[in-house]
Amino acid sequence: DIGDLGDELGYAVYVVGGFVRDLILRAEENLDVDVVIEGDGIRFAKALSKRWGARVRIHRKFCTAVVIFPDGFKIDVATARTEHYEYPAAMPIITLGSIRLDLLRRDFTVNALAIRLNRRSFGKVYDYFGGQRDLKEKIIRVLHSLSFVEDPTRAFRAIRFEQRFHFRIDSFTLNLIKNAVKKGFISKLSGKRVFNELYIIFSEPNQIGVLERMAELRVLQAVNPNLPPIDEMRRLFRNIRGVMAWYELLYREEPVEEWILYFLGFIDKLHDQQAKEFCEYLKITNHVMQKVQAARNGYKLIERPLYEKLPDLQNSDIYHVFHHLPIETILFWMAKTRQEFVKKAVSTYLSKLRDVKPEISGNDLIALGLRPGPLFQKLLVQVLDARLNGEVATKDQELELVK
Ligand code: CTP
Repeated sequence: DIGDLGDELGYAVYVVGGFVRDLILRAEENLDVDVVIEGDGIRFAKALSKRWGARVRIHRKFCTAVVIFPDGFKIDVATARTEHYEYPAAMPIITLGSIRLDLLRRDFTVNALAIRLNRRSFGKVYDYFGGQRDLKEKIIRVLHSLSFVEDPTRAFRAIRFEQRFHFRIDSFTLNLIKNAVKKGFISKLSGKRVFNELYIIFSEPNQIGVLERMAELRVLQAVNPNLPPIDEMRRLFRNIRGVMAWYELLYREEPVEEWILYFLGFIDKLHDQQAKEFCEYLKITNHVMQKVQAARNGYKLIERPLYEKLPDLQNSDIYHVFHHLPIETILFWMAKTRQEFVKKAVSTYLSKLRDVKPEISGNDLIALGLRPGPLFQKLLVQVLDARLNGEVATKDQELELVK
């Protein structure tokens, strides 16, 4: 259908990039579709959205647009840079081979493949740089020697793809990465761009493999020289994975920003001041910063208060320690702590206590002749505590307790 629209408008339409790579690799379904138009990409995107009742967001400056379908499916539409061959007088402007130029600007050969979508030559693969060969031989290779100068974040991408697909970076490309590190291209990147790469790395399965390779190529040291050797992160990363596997089995509805746990593991060995400066450099949002800070204060917020209640730690004590804390903070501390009683407390809290509520409400207290105020609140907490500790189990018992 996309191809048909291209035919109607007289544009060549291609699907490009990661989608094509993953299609040929038969990798997990890629939900990011990038299409390139030889013609007016914005006009194409508008027509596409109109035909399918989808929304469209236009970036005029870059001649790109995103078409967003009601079910969340997205298509990125880009305009191929066109070469104009203008002939004198009334001759039309002829655009030639602009898909090739569009592909030439891309990062690696395996990401520089295009498939034609127009009815005529539907499915034809455009492979100018040996992308199919490199896919077959499992090689990450740049298209030209200035690739990392154009965009140093490609160093992160090369390593990420290498680990994700079990490819290897070819030796010429490897040298270019080392050179980019030496020349300071990586350390000069804006924190925002580095954060974006870290976020993707921590959202993918083999985080520690990527970090190891980054350390080996000294990309990690260029990001932050204070980070410890990967060996010192390994235990924590393994524990985080274990905790997440356990948590998933609880089938809780509340979403967890899992990448935050790995990010916390990543910066765990930094001193507070170093961690603060690093987060500021990365431009971490306030919302994430709050979770990060709470987690780094886990000893004070979780471990010590629980310890102080030993040996007869009650469920109500556990509840009050945890119930203000973000879920990421709790799970991170479960992964980090070496204390069995802390792990057990987290487990009890998340699996048994978290949703406990009194059956009586403020209205029941009003019915008993009480007026809302501080005492009111205190009573409700007392009832909750009794429930948590198994002292009451029914509404009648709760009412009894209040009286
Ligand atoms: N690209 C590039 N240089 C970059 C980022 C992206 O050349 N620094 C190109 C690549 O051709 C890539 C395409 O833009 O395939 C789309 O980028 P993106 O969606 O970030 O990556 P994907 O290859 O789709 O990878 P992922 O599966 O991680 O989304």
